[in-house]
Amino acid sequence: MNIVVAGTGYVGLVTGVALANAGHCVTCVDVDQAKVELMRQGVSPIYEPGLEELMQENMERLTFTTDYASAYRTAEVVFIGVGTPEKKDGSANLSYVFQVAHQIAENIENDCIVVVKSTVPIGTNDKVEKLIKDNLAHDVWVEVVSNPEFLSQGTAVPDTLHAARIVIGAESDRAKEIVRNVYENFHQPFVITNRRSAEMIKYASNDFLALKISYINEIANFCEIVGANIEDVAKGMGYDPRIGNRFLHAGIGYGGSCFPKDTKALHWMSNYYERELKTIKAAIEINDSQKLKLIKKSKQYYDSLEGLTVAVLGLTFKPNTDDLREAPSLVNIPIMLDDGATVKAWDPVGVENYKKKYPDELQYCDTIEETLKDADICFIFTEWQEVKDLKPEDFKRLMKKAIVLDGRNCYIPETFSGSGVVYNSIGRTIVEG
Ligand code: UDX
Repeated sequence: MNIVVAGTGYVGLVTGVALANAGHCVTCVDVDQAKVELMRQGVSPIYEPGLEELMQENMERLTFTTDYASAYRTAEVVFIGVGTPEKKDGSANLSYVFQVAHQIAENIENDCIVVVKSTVPIGTNDKVEKLIKDNLAHDVWVEVVSNPEFLSQGTAVPDTLHAARIVIGAESDRAKEIVRNVYENFHQPFVITNRRSAEMIKYASNDFLALKISYINEIANFCEIVGANIEDVAKGMGYDPRIGNRFLHAGIGYGGSCFPKDTKALHWMSNYYERELKTIKAAIEINDSQKLKLIKKSKQYYDSLEGLTVAVLGLTFKPNTDDLREAPSLVNIPIMLDDGATVKAWDPVGVENYKKKYPDELQYCDTIEETLKDADICFIFTEWQEVKDLKPEDFKRLMKKAIVLDGRNCYIPETFSGSGVVYNSIGRTIVEG
């Protein structure tokens, strides 16, 4: 099948490479010439474990181009995997999706299926189909299919190759059959439904997971008050298969490109229909306040961070990605700087992206040792393995005042007993050193 993928971000590029790996010839289209040049040389423009290797293994079936007109002309299936960023009011910005839809309409010369992978508000696939049909330059059959993507950053390749399910939302049997055939070499359960249900499955899944995290974070905060241990509580809950043990890790809140955006978009939609989804609203509010949890905890030790040296371990929204979108570090570090602290930060891959926002305001360190050296307090925002490998004596030896605020519960609190380190994490006993 002649497949084209529009957009080479996380969703587009991983989809393109996975489809090539399944035996299809895939043309990946992007507007960014420099990115296209890189990909032609087998270099992935995004940091994603395993992606570059899989790309290189399948180069003979992959083409990268900025020439969308030629690519769409003969396409049988076009996947749209462009971004749908958040607008100021919380709704999704669909301008990239509509732009691609226009380009498809103006160029396709064959019957064609357009598959929307981007996360889009309920009803958007109907609008995309109407837009394409209204602007067709040639008399061809075209139908839009919703096929939401569920990959997580950092595990995008295995998530796509071994997805938990493939959701296909289409309005005709012909369209369902064609997209089913695209995935014939994938061996996952298929959920075949109509377009609006497929669009809803994506939001309902992401927002349920966001809610699960906000729920465990709220319970963790309550554990601190009643003297319970959130890790044991989550473990005890997780053995119940109706609850499940994943996404019960308490911390300083969820970030990333999906949960914050998708919760706000669904909440916005529910208000639009005058049926506010109260659970989603709660998930958002809890997350906003959870992101400031460590700053609040720091007040137990210092009235203000003015004149202090603060060590920050981890800048990205989670490990194994260089992505900073909605990362807790982005709301916390500006507060520290405003307070008048000297901030030293370490992250194995996120520094370059952070520098784009804050080139000179903080000191970027190459090693954890350098970051902790002579610090008055340490904030842990991302559970990188290098951070998890640290021992209480490392903090004691390097810091001026060994106070560790751990937003990702990287260590067992008891290991800090008698270490001379103050260890304060989420939803667990504070160890006074
Ligand atoms: C998420 C969804 O998992 C994925 O299905 C969807 O397609 C896109 O959004 P991603 O944002 O890449 O993927 O990361 P994920 O691993 O889900 O983590 C999101 C955030 O939640 C991170 O900030 C992470 O630290 C936080 N999280 C996750 C918790 O705080 N606790 C948990 O138990 C799990």
